[in-house]
Amino acid sequence: MSNEENQQLFKEAMGNYPTGVTVVTTTDHEGKPVGLTVNSFASVSLDPLMILWSIDHKASSIHTFKESAKFAVHLLAEDQQELVKQFSSRDVDRFSKVKWGFSDNHLPVIEDAFAVFECETFQTVEAGDHTILIGSVINITTEKKNPLLYHRRHIGAIPSEFYAQLDKE
Ligand SMILES: Cc1cc2nc3c(=O)[nH]c(=O)nc-3n(C[C@H](O)[C@H](O)[C@H](O)COP(=O)(O)O)c2cc1C
Repeated sequence: MSNEENQQLFKEAMGNYPTGVTVVTTTDHEGKPVGLTVNSFASVSLDPLMILWSIDHKASSIHTFKESAKFAVHLLAEDQQELVKQFSSRDVDRFSKVKWGFSDNHLPVIEDAFAVFECETFQTVEAGDHTILIGSVINITTEKKNPLLYHRRHIGAIPSEFYAQLDKE
């Protein structure tokens, strides 16, 4: 099987694997906020608290994230669909339409996510065409909101029937 065929199968399988959606932010060397939409986020360790995500070598912010030594992961809520496009589109001021401010750790934090993990970069690992960033979690905030779902390139809320089923259990 050719590499191209395998890549196609890989894309099909991963596209059919549902995830949540996050926006990861940091500041550049001028102190300006930068951020991008990310679904490669995963939990790593409970003691100590660690998470990971991976960034494409082609992303404009890759050097900023590798140099900044800290970042904030926003786990998006079901009413934050607009942010997914906003933070993955080029040539837009990504922070212009969102409410955000600097945290005590001087990280750009966007309002209304269901959780925000502020992290110090613990390790970066080069892996193929991406760099994996492993973060030590230094601050957590949460809100009681439902998450946003990313599945088959579609973004939306988890259907209410799913929650109705949970309530019966
Ligand atoms: C749902 C979704 C998930 C994404 N996940 C990632 C990811 O995990 N890592 C990554 O590097 N890019 C990811 N992207 C793409 C980036 O958000 C986007 O390519 C990037 O922001 C491009 O703009 P830039 O090069 O100007 O930063 C994702 C995009 C979408 C819509």
